[in-house]
Amino acid sequence: MTILRVDSSITGENSVSRILTQRITDQLASGGEPVVVRDLAADPLPHLTLDQLGAGPVLDEFLAADTVVIGAPMYNFTLPTQLKAWLDRILVAGQTFRYTATGPEGLAGGRRVIVALSRGGFYEEGTPAGALEHLKTYLTGVFGFIGIAPEFVHADGIAAGPEQREAGIANGLEEVDRLAA
Ligand SMILES: Cc1cc2nc3c(=O)[nH]c(=O)nc-3n(C[C@H](O)[C@H](O)[C@H](O)COP(=O)(O)O)c2cc1C
Repeated sequence: MTILRVDSSITGENSVSRILTQRITDQLASGGEPVVVRDLAADPLPHLTLDQLGAGPVLDEFLAADTVVIGAPMYNFTLPTQLKAWLDRILVAGQTFRYTATGPEGLAGGRRVIVALSRGGFYEEGTPAGALEHLKTYLTGVFGFIGIAPEFVHADGIAAGPEQREAGIANGLEEVDRLAA
């Protein structure tokens, strides 16, 4: 099994999403499977430009993976621009999706994508804050477009005080353990 871990948090040792991606990859690779690590904060990809459109090494790395673990912190109600630049390399017409007479078709199915969400607040559907949730909804849509139903673990309320932070991390880790069970 080839595992790709993609981190995008800029908060270094304080990062909650990195706690979760670490735990997920530890469990997936417990048999010694290799983990390819792409740290988008340490090595950011540039904004997409016309000359970089199409297939490339970032897409090859994604397509070579059976399981992709993504750390997705919420910044300003959506994903970090570092992660968006990575997605810009993954959504490539003719490679991960194509347009057909009956509509778009995802071509990247058959691999597992696990997303570790860490969010400062709470974004239950139907609440006023829920209308500002453009992270999980976006990633669900984008991966769905290329043929993948991502699995999510959630650490919420990270900016709501120390107790809420601990509770959010504990919830995320519990969800990771449930995924592995
Ligand atoms: C630049 C920045 C912007 C943020 N914007 C939001 C936000 O819009 N909504 C929210 O709920 N939390 C927000 N937060 C809080 C983070 O989502 C929270 O701290 C989360 O744990 C970040 O993931 P990380 O710990 O892996 O860095 C923001 C944090 C940072 C650093």
